[in-house]
Amino acid sequence: MADQIEVRFANQVDLDGCIALDHPTMSAEVIKRKIEQREIIVAEKAGRLVGYLRIEYLWSIVPYIALIWVVEDQRREGIGRAMLRYLENVLREQGHTALYSSSQANELEPQAWHRHVGFEECGFIAGINEGGIGEIFFRKSLRRQ
Ligand SMILES: CC(C)(COP(=O)(O)OP(=O)(O)OC[C@H]1O[C@@H](n2cnc3c(N)ncnc32)[C@H](O)[C@@H]1OP(=O)(O)O)[C@@H](O)C(=O)NCCC(=O)NCCS
Repeated sequence: MADQIEVRFANQVDLDGCIALDHPTMSAEVIKRKIEQREIIVAEKAGRLVGYLRIEYLWSIVPYIALIWVVEDQRREGIGRAMLRYLENVLREQGHTALYSSSQANELEPQAWHRHVGFEECGFIAGINEGGIGEIFFRKSLRRQ
């Protein structure tokens, strides 16, 4: 039988795993604080963290996926979608009506994934990334169809 995937908010026991999965410029202190604030979701499979999702809130109000990452050997197994669904359910319960996300303009795969799971393109910031690469923004409605 395939190992079950458990999706949940990260806790302090996950700190080292979260540091390993997040961007190298993120300090342990910031990650620790974000865990406390329930702004990091993880997917665990057979005791291993295989998925990571970090949230920010634009103007401290509007939910935005700052980073979603599934370990390479576990992609296309539904883990990204499972973390997204978990986040959407939490946000809906809190009364949010939209979720934002983004992707570098030169990364076509994550853009295709966002569209596939229901995001629509809603904006662009030119030159915000290293090398002058732009960032494409996406929005997904959380209203039930
Ligand atoms: C983008 C990412 C998070 C997707 O996670 P994943 O676990 O591989 O995706 P899932 O298996 O949950 O895919 C959900 C659906 O999207 C589809 N999908 C997956 N990757 C896709 C892609 N690159 N393009 C189009 N569709 C894709 C799947 O087939 C699946 O479709 P279905 O549910 O209709 O059968 C993962 O590929 C990743 O970590 N990429 C590197 C990091 C990254 O680029 N993050 C995004 C920018 S912050």
